[in-house]
Amino acid sequence: MRSDRPETAAPGQVKQITSLANPLVKDLRALAMKKHRDETGLFLGEGLKLVTDALAVNWPVDTICFSGSVRDQPAVAQAAAKVHARGGTVLDVSEAVLGKITRRDNPQMVVGVFRQRLRPLAEVRPADGEVWVALEQVRDPGNLGTIVRTVDSVGAKGVILVGETCDPFSVEAVRATMGSMFHVPLVRASREAFLAWAKTARTRLVGTHLKATHDYRRAAAPGPVVLVMGNEQQGLTEPLAEACTVRVKIPMAGQADSLNLAVATGVMLYELRRDAL
Ligand code: SAM
Ligand code: CO
Repeated sequence: MRSDRPETAAPGQVKQITSLANPLVKDLRALAMKKHRDETGLFLGEGLKLVTDALAVNWPVDTICFSGSVRDQPAVAQAAAKVHARGGTVLDVSEAVLGKITRRDNPQMVVGVFRQRLRPLAEVRPADGEVWVALEQVRDPGNLGTIVRTVDSVGAKGVILVGETCDPFSVEAVRATMGSMFHVPLVRASREAFLAWAKTARTRLVGTHLKATHDYRRAAAPGPVVLVMGNEQQGLTEPLAEACTVRVKIPMAGQADSLNLAVATGVMLYELRRDAL
């Protein structure tokens, strides 16, 4: 009897799809739309790295979909076997089908479908030395994904999406995280819920504001910190700015009115995490 585990999904466990009219193809393609993501609780991510990152942390992978041209690559076969072993679906498709699903002329050869996962705000209890980021009404998915990636890079703990924000599970946001999506806890909260939480969380709230008088290099202090960043167009709303323990500004010398949100978040995070890195 063989005791070794199979390293690839057996052919019968793989669905092959070449028809662009296949209903599964339509379902996956529909995940580009927020409405369909909300209904299914799923999201789409492109590239083998994303799938292997998800598998490495046991993030639920609903489906792996790959082009027949890469089916024999060991890394692809292993990822497919893992997805299957954990109850997911394995789809071996044509490049045309991949292009249709991802709405791209040059699609990646591997695409994953993942379960959405958000953490409840009540579970967020920043400890000494920990940094969380709160983003009020962030609009741009590229900014959001870039910030998630930066939070991961500096070893900050997670991101709280406050108020009406763009969808963290959109293809653009997920792409910009470069896999950090699966390493950074995401929380969503109304402004009211966030303000109520902040009162009881025993955490310093460091707000960033163009009209602040404190220099950002005075933001670091012992204890837990939530870095609070404003919206791309309007900046922080009054209620949130007022709730902050301190408001700081990153000095600027040229003619620009402000820094890009993700850049400002990066500067702040490196300052707040200076002693840890
Ligand atoms: N017109 C907006 C305003 O007046 O606030 C600009 C918002 S800016 C593009 C987006 C966010 O990035 C701000 O809300 C703030 O959190 C942060 N930010 C950008 N530049 C900054 C700076 N020089 N100092 C502190 N925060 C900054
Ligand atoms: Co099986």
